[in-house]
Amino acid sequence: MARIVYVNGVYAPYASAVVHAEDRGFQFADAVYEVCEVRDGLLVDERRHMARLQRSLGELRMAQPMDLRSLGVILRETVRRNRVKNGLVYLQITRGVARRDFAFPQPGVAPTVVCFARPLSRAKGEKRAGAGISVITLPDIRWTRADIKTTGLLAQSLARQQANEAGAYEAWMVDRDGYITEGASCNAWIVTADGKLVTRPADFGILRGITRGVVMDIARRNGFVFEERAFTVDEAKAAREAFQTSATGLVMPVVKIDGEPVGNGKPGEVAVGLRQVYHTVAEISSTPAHLT
Ligand code: PDD
Repeated sequence: MARIVYVNGVYAPYASAVVHAEDRGFQFADAVYEVCEVRDGLLVDERRHMARLQRSLGELRMAQPMDLRSLGVILRETVRRNRVKNGLVYLQITRGVARRDFAFPQPGVAPTVVCFARPLSRAKGEKRAGAGISVITLPDIRWTRADIKTTGLLAQSLARQQANEAGAYEAWMVDRDGYITEGASCNAWIVTADGKLVTRPADFGILRGITRGVVMDIARRNGFVFEERAFTVDEAKAAREAFQTSATGLVMPVVKIDGEPVGNGKPGEVAVGLRQVYHTVAEISSTPAHLT
């Protein structure tokens, strides 16, 4: 089936969906983005993703190209035109096209808005979660504003490549003091020997994951004790369980870190349980009407 990509007001065939050579997203990664899960044709946690998008735009002093309701229409129309039942929808906004200059262009330059959607196999995701994944750890070499969801993802791209070359699925990045920050494209969690859920506080050093937030809601509602604090690689390796969260991977059990088994080397029951209930707590919306 022909894929369709939204670019600046036009739903274009994949091959002709292009942006300008002097787009600031291309030259400076002067762009923010969001990835939402699509489940049964509906958007998951749209409200929270759009709130984070607004925050990212604000941090970069970039104007919001249109209201959230209109962005919601584009997201849905892109999902519909690509007939994505289960998968993801990706939205990117750049500061627009301008003669290459490090400082911002004059006000009035139109932002570039791109949206695409693509299917992801639910069966494959479940199979992966059933087996659990391996991660490697490596230094976090990113800039200090990882809280902004920009397309400046080179460090994460290198990390993921290194993980894949090592036969692992993901890379967990480690700060200078030996504490795990997050995965290349996910948040990192452990379950301690006494059953506490631990994940790093969402300061400037990590992205405040939407899936992370929903997992915290689940934990609160179910009486889990959780701690927002940094944990070391050694603590993760000695944990009862480890897992990671993201909109596309959901709650994904981690069974090996740097080749060493975590817990009994099988997906942990907390991670499996969180994954099972995830969509009963996430917001799943058919219309953008709830957005103002
Ligand atoms: N990545 N941390 C990083 C660095 C991420 O890139 C992501 C998401 C997350 C998890 O955030 P959320 O739960 O909101 O998806 C954490 C997306 C999926 C991506 O870039 O494809």
